[in-house]
Amino acid sequence: MSIEPSAAQVAQFRDLILDRLGLQFDETKLGNLARVLARHGGRDNAAYLAMLAAEPEPSEALHRLAVDLTVTETYFYRNGEQIQAFAEVAMPACLQAREGLPVRVLSAGCASGEEPYTLAIAARETMGLGAGSVQIRAVDANPAMLAKASAARYSVWSLREVNPAMRARWFARDGDLYALSDGVRRSVRFEQRNLAREDAELWAPGSYDIVFCRNVLMYFSPEQAEAAVARIAEAIAPGGYLFLGHAETLRGLSSDFHLCHTHATFYYRRKSQAGEPAPAMKFSLPAWEGAPFQPLLLNDPAWANVIARAAQRIDSLAVAAPPADYGQSAPAQPDLHHALSCLHKEQFEQSLALIEKLPQQHADDPDVLLLKAVSLSQSGALAEAQNICRALLARDELNAGAHYVLALCREEEGDNPAALTHYRSAAYLDPGFALARLHIGVLERRMAELDAARRDLAQALVLLQHEDPSRLLLFGGGFPRSALIDLCRAELTALGGPR
Ligand SMILES: C[S@@+](CC[C@H](N)C(=O)[O-])C[C@H]1O[C@@H](n2cnc3c(N)ncnc32)[C@H](O)[C@@H]1O
Repeated sequence: MSIEPSAAQVAQFRDLILDRLGLQFDETKLGNLARVLARHGGRDNAAYLAMLAAEPEPSEALHRLAVDLTVTETYFYRNGEQIQAFAEVAMPACLQAREGLPVRVLSAGCASGEEPYTLAIAARETMGLGAGSVQIRAVDANPAMLAKASAARYSVWSLREVNPAMRARWFARDGDLYALSDGVRRSVRFEQRNLAREDAELWAPGSYDIVFCRNVLMYFSPEQAEAAVARIAEAIAPGGYLFLGHAETLRGLSSDFHLCHTHATFYYRRKSQAGEPAPAMKFSLPAWEGAPFQPLLLNDPAWANVIARAAQRIDSLAVAAPPADYGQSAPAQPDLHHALSCLHKEQFEQSLALIEKLPQQHADDPDVLLLKAVSLSQSGALAEAQNICRALLARDELNAGAHYVLALCREEEGDNPAALTHYRSAAYLDPGFALARLHIGVLERRMAELDAARRDLAQALVLLQHEDPSRLLLFGGGFPRSALIDLCRAELTALGGPR
C-alpha cells in the first residue's frame, strides 16, 4: 500500500534527485514525482526520504529510482550526420594521433546500447576497424537499460534508421527481434555509472579520444550540466572530440572546445591549450537535414536562460548607465540606452559615437562590442563590423550574436554559403534565436532549398512570437516584431505555406 506524499515531501524528493542524479524537474512534473515517491516510499514516505538522504552511494534505492525517472528514448544511427562526422572526421584524426594505439570512445548516457553499438558498427563499416583499433566504453545510471544493452536484441523500431543491407550484415533475426552480431557486442563494455557525480576513475584526465554525451545534459540542471561538462572536458585528450545531442550546445557551459561544423551537423573539438585560435569554419552545404524543431526545449529553463542572456545583458548594462538627462545625480557619461535607441532610429553615427565614449571597462565588454558591430554593419562599415565579430569569436567561438552579425555582413557582400554557415552556427548555439532562423529560411528559399526553407521559416514564425524584445531591438534591423512576422509569413506564402 502507498500513501500520498505531502507537498513538502515531494519538494524534498525533487531536491534529492537533483543532487544525486543531476535531473531537474519543473513544476509541471511534480504530479509525476509524487506518484514515483508514493510507489517507492510505500507506507512511510518520510522514512524512505530519510533513508535516501542517508544511504551512501552508489545505492540500490537510487538505481531503482533511475529506472523510473530517466528518459531513455534512443535508436540506432540517431542523428546519422553525427555518426558520419564521427567515422569520417573524428575517428581518422584520432587514429592518427594515437599512432597505432586504439582510439578510446565513451558513450555517456548510453541507455539501451544503440548509440555505442552504432559507433562500433560505423567504425567497421567506414574504416573496417575492429575491436583492436577502437575501444568503446558505455555508461548509464539506469540498470534496466544496461541489462537491455547487454542482451543486445532489438525491435525493428530501434533499427528504423538502419538500411536492410546493414541490418543483414550486423543482425540476425530472432523471432520478433534482431540479435546483434557477437563481434560488435563484444567490442562495447557497459558499466553502471552516475554522470552527476565526481568519479576519479571514469573521468581520469585524458582518458578518451571521443565522447558522445547526447540527450543527457538537457535533463540536468544548469549547475549539474556545467559540472558534468567540466569533468568531460578534463577527461578528453587534447584534440579529442565531443558530440552532444543536436539540440544541446556548450554555449555558456564551457570554453574548452572549438566548434566544428561538417556533415551538416555541429560537434566540438577539445582545445589543445587555452586561448588556442579557432580553426577556419568549413562550409557545409547542402542544407542541414537536422531533426524537426522541438518546442519543448524552449520551455526548458536550463537552455532558455542561456538563450536570452546576451540580449538581456545589453539591456542591464544600459540600465546600469542611465541617460544623461535622467536627473541631477546621474553621472555625466554616455549611456547604452541612448546608443540602443539611436540604433533603433537608424542613427548609426550617433550610436557609434556614444559607444566610442564609453569608459574602457565597458568598451571591452563583449556585448558592447556586439552592439558596436551591429551599428557598424547597419551603417555599411562591413569590414570593421566583421573584424569585431572575428575578434569576438576568437575570444569565444560560441558567441551566437557574433556569428549572426558576421553572417549579416557576409550576406551583404554576396557570400551566401559563408552567411548560411554562420547563421546556422548562431541558430544551433542559440536555438531560440528567431532572427537567425528567419535569415536561414530566407537564404534557403533564395538558394532553391525549398523543403529546408519551409521548415526553417515555420520555426522562425513560432520563435518570432516569443523572441526577447531587447534582442529584437538589437538584431532586428529596426523592424518591429510584427513586421518580421509579416515578412516570415510572406516568405512562407511564396513557398506555398508550411507542409
Ligand atoms: C535520452 S537517453 C539518451 C541515449 C543516447 N545517448 C541517445 O542520444 O540516443 C538519456 C540517458 O541518460 C541516462 N542518464 C540520465 N541521468 C544520468 C546520470 N545522472 N548518470 C548516468 N546516466 C544518466 C538515462 O538513464 C538515459 O538512458
